[in-house]
Amino acid sequence: MLSYRHGFHAGNFADVLKHTVLVHILEYMKQKDKALRIVDTHAGAGVYKLNGPQAQKNREFDTGIGPLWNCSDAPPAIAKYLEAVRAVNEQGQLQIYPGSPLLMQTLMRSQDRLFLHELHPNDFQFLRDCMRDDKHVKVLNEDGFAGLQALLPPPDRRALVLLDPSYEVKNDYQHLVKQVIQAHNRFQTGTFAIWYPVVLRQRIDEMELALKKSGITNIQLMEFGLLPDNPEHGMTSSGMIVINPPWTLWSAMEETLPWLVEQLSEDQAGFYRLEQLVAEK
Ligand SMILES: C[S@@+](CC[C@H](N)C(=O)[O-])C[C@H]1O[C@@H](n2cnc3c(N)ncnc32)[C@H](O)[C@@H]1O
Repeated sequence: MLSYRHGFHAGNFADVLKHTVLVHILEYMKQKDKALRIVDTHAGAGVYKLNGPQAQKNREFDTGIGPLWNCSDAPPAIAKYLEAVRAVNEQGQLQIYPGSPLLMQTLMRSQDRLFLHELHPNDFQFLRDCMRDDKHVKVLNEDGFAGLQALLPPPDRRALVLLDPSYEVKNDYQHLVKQVIQAHNRFQTGTFAIWYPVVLRQRIDEMELALKKSGITNIQLMEFGLLPDNPEHGMTSSGMIVINPPWTLWSAMEETLPWLVEQLSEDQAGFYRLEQLVAEK
């Protein structure tokens, strides 16, 4: 079942947090010269037109990148993210929103390699067009979880993995945890960034518990919601769980998360969480 199309959600509040965290981690990892293997298990179409029919349907970017676009006093992690989004928009107008593949392609260095997985046939074609035969990027029309296992451990012992499934079926939450544990067993020092939506809080509680019990150490969680939990409102908040985060991520999020609540949640009804789920060894 592949009914999810990221184009309807591009640039929403969940993308803002996910891509801010992603940019922060990538910039940190680039401080060492050694080549990075970057893996996106669920890549989407790569880039989205915000004036196109999908993005215009619910205009989710109006409570995401939209109100932040002209900010000049954002916390440093958001400023870096905005710089990356601005780099793919010409003439200072917010017209296109870069998905994780385009953000990473824009920011990676010549020694790095990017592996993108996308199963949806249309989005796979868009993604291929977006990457324009870049010889540093591999675009695969394959299951991202299976692809990930085959790519670990990386030759240079450095990897950043984004796991961003669409959670279309209930079982996806458990499946993701199993796949993360397997990938971590293959490469324990990799940085794994997992995105999750909060639709039913219980599913996230279970996912956190499974990760806590997994034996994996050094796990941080950062979450930001527009509204308190309410199973009747669809996705009210979303977060990132990062295994082996850069040491700088925590303080960056201490500044970023309250600022996001202030900027994006109406009447300050939102909230955030920043937690060390499992301590470093
Ligand atoms: C949330 S979107 C990805 C968004 C993207 N990572 C970004 O941040 O711009 C999830 C994507 O995963 C794709 N997908 C679903 N199941 C998949 C699988 N098993 N392997 C690879 N891609 C899959 C969907 O078609 C969808 O395009």
